[in-house]
Amino acid sequence: MRIAQLLMVLFYLAVTFSAEAQTRVQLTLKKGWKFSREDNASASGINFNDASWQSVEVPHDWAIYGPFDRSNDIHRMAIVQDGQTKATEHYGRTGGLPFTGAGWYRNRFSIPDFTGDKRVKIQFDGAMSNARVYVNGKEAGYWPNGYNTFYLDITGLINNDGKENVLAVRLENFEEQSRWYPGAGLYRNVHLIVTDKTHIPIWGTYVTTPVVEKDVARVNVRTRVHASGEGNLKLVTEIRDKSFNTIASAENTLSKADMGEFSQNLAVENPQLWGIKQPNLYTAVSRLYENNQLVDEYTTPFGIRTLEIKPNDGFYLNGEKIKFQGVCLHHDLGPLGAAVNEAAIRRQIRTMQDMGVNAIRTSHNMPAPEYVRIADEMGMMLMVETFDEWAIPKVKNGYNRYFNEWAEKDLTNVLHHYRNNPSVVMWCIGNEVEEQSDKHGSRVARFLQDICHREDPTRPVTNGMDRPDHVLSNNMGAVMEVPGFNYRPFRYQEAYDRLPQQVILGSETASTLSSRGVYKFPVERKSMAQYDDHQASSYDVEHCGWSNLPEDDFIQHEDLPYTIGEFIWTGIDYLGEPTPYYSAWPSHSSLFGAVDLAGIPKDRFYLYRSHWNKEEETLHILPHWNWEGREGEVTPVFVYTSYPSAELFINGKSQGKRTKELSVPLEGSYTTEAQKSFERQKRYRLMWMDTRYEPGTVKVVAYDNNGKAVAEKEVRTAGKPYRVVMQADRNVINADGEDISFVNVKLVDKAGNFCPVEDREISFTVKGAGVFKAVANGNAASLESFQLPRMKLFSGQLTALVQAGEEPGTIVLEAKAKGVQSGRIEILVK
Ligand code: GAL
Repeated sequence: MRIAQLLMVLFYLAVTFSAEAQTRVQLTLKKGWKFSREDNASASGINFNDASWQSVEVPHDWAIYGPFDRSNDIHRMAIVQDGQTKATEHYGRTGGLPFTGAGWYRNRFSIPDFTGDKRVKIQFDGAMSNARVYVNGKEAGYWPNGYNTFYLDITGLINNDGKENVLAVRLENFEEQSRWYPGAGLYRNVHLIVTDKTHIPIWGTYVTTPVVEKDVARVNVRTRVHASGEGNLKLVTEIRDKSFNTIASAENTLSKADMGEFSQNLAVENPQLWGIKQPNLYTAVSRLYENNQLVDEYTTPFGIRTLEIKPNDGFYLNGEKIKFQGVCLHHDLGPLGAAVNEAAIRRQIRTMQDMGVNAIRTSHNMPAPEYVRIADEMGMMLMVETFDEWAIPKVKNGYNRYFNEWAEKDLTNVLHHYRNNPSVVMWCIGNEVEEQSDKHGSRVARFLQDICHREDPTRPVTNGMDRPDHVLSNNMGAVMEVPGFNYRPFRYQEAYDRLPQQVILGSETASTLSSRGVYKFPVERKSMAQYDDHQASSYDVEHCGWSNLPEDDFIQHEDLPYTIGEFIWTGIDYLGEPTPYYSAWPSHSSLFGAVDLAGIPKDRFYLYRSHWNKEEETLHILPHWNWEGREGEVTPVFVYTSYPSAELFINGKSQGKRTKELSVPLEGSYTTEAQKSFERQKRYRLMWMDTRYEPGTVKVVAYDNNGKAVAEKEVRTAGKPYRVVMQADRNVINADGEDISFVNVKLVDKAGNFCPVEDREISFTVKGAGVFKAVANGNAASLESFQLPRMKLFSGQLTALVQAGEEPGTIVLEAKAKGVQSGRIEILVK
């Protein structure tokens, strides 16, 4: 018996023997999968022999194992969006990984005691893409969108006699279907849900909090029912607090006038509101009775909070004005590819929170359910986005192929799926869609926005638009509840003047480029700069042709009362889109992140942190101070700090004091001269442009508003590398076979100084209660495998991922490199 089957039986027995009537059973199919890249049509059949196929666990991304190759999904086209007018070959645009073509998965499961009185559904949290699902040799359904959650009723295909059922899934990805790395396969979870004939359907509850006062909140719970016949239906809904105590309940019977949907109002006294880093959650437990017999029990986690957008004022959460300090994030998890993993998601959100981020835009697609749940649990706002394309293509085989037939179904699924999650504070129906330039583009925007309002009138709706001229003239800008603009912050004022809403969202901003620990001289503001090493300068002075530096957005959102904040492109690097290295293989991942692909902060992380994170002090110096060969040359020093001013010392000699120039105005700061002399930057970063390199110590002393020295920091020239140093993000992880510890690995000299220009290879061995999972160094031009237990350091660092087994114990990770002492770290698995 396969483990999945055994679990099913155990779970089933547990439910059957519980005191309550047997209600729903949910099983997540993680194990027992067989996988093949061979496209054999008979693989859907019951008797197909899959013994020679690879055994895998789901979530599984078939493409992340590589190898990288320039010939994977070459795009021969002009990227019009990026201003290209001539078709050229783009390599690595989708990551240079082998995600195209077909792949098959097969599994077996049984449902003991299955009778025709049950209902069986299969839910895919996301399957990349064009999923065709077969149960016992018969097609159960098809879903083209690779990001969305969908479910199929497979009751009629299940064996009646408790016999094993065969599940087969065929997926297929096309060339030119995406503008970035989409991942491949069953990269999100698959669930079986068995209910009574009379039951609450998937996403059948809708919880809203129409009135929230200090001492009481009204919670409205709408619950849909699928009934098998004419029996009397009763619903008991209880609201539980975070300790699972019942704090309110309601009981109703269903009348004809209810049209199959209960609506109940419950009062929660002294509600604990959900907010930023304040993840207060409640649970609604719904018990459905048919003729007084319990037939279903359904739980809905939710939060109590209010949202409001006030013209000329801004966005309010729980009555408090908040500017979005947001990041756009792609769905991939760096070296894990698209395969969903809770530990990796938690680490992303934790890192973003440390940067001062309060909101994430799930660009440009539906997030994994784990992502939304974890955002709920960590107090991170989400702007959930659905589409990068409507009916007019950006890429030949993109969603445009499906839009007309599928858009409403896809949008409805995501709205039903996440409308109870308090972290979701806004829907975003599109990103830079081509319809912006279409005479009737606003009609499509209205169509999609209406669906959002129909299914969830409680949240605002936006759209990321990057063609102000077009959307101001075809009404798309005016139709949106919240006009969201991508880039060109200097056009906000004009958009505000011409639009009726009196608010502007920076739905996508910055696209600043940098590579961790790489610095270019002379330090000059540059657009689309390319270098032989395929990197960008970490002085944070480089951007794309359509974009800008972080401060060029800060100043808008600080000075214009109608701006409601921004979502920077991007919080973290992602696979694909190696802009500006479009055709410069081996570049295959992005340089936009404030954090690199290995999850290691770049300098830019600290610039955002100094401005956004008001709870903690930031005092960060750049560049590193190992510039052999640059002795005596101008080597500017920047300090990103939450303090207003600081003094810089090189080997004890003062280089002068700098103070943030808060009086730099928005007006006039866009001239070529002002851009060149970093006028806006002077308001937010401290810059010593004329310092010269000499080995030794760079020290910064920060002063508060009263001129008192309050903090200091030093960077020293490192000597010869001496040993490997390792630090885990978590030293204790769960024995669940999935949890991951992310271990930072670097070299230091004998005195413990970080060696910032090291690139020697580190090799790993793992012993004990876990396995080596992956490794990443954040170098967007490295073709090294993410899975082999060795990799070169990039700017002196990398991240090794070790995964827990299913038994408690200790994992020992060892790291070796030529000519230095090895490192060793223990991680406890509990
Ligand atoms: C935007 C687009 C993003 C990404 C970014 C790079 O125009 O919305 O998906 O391509 O440019 O700067």
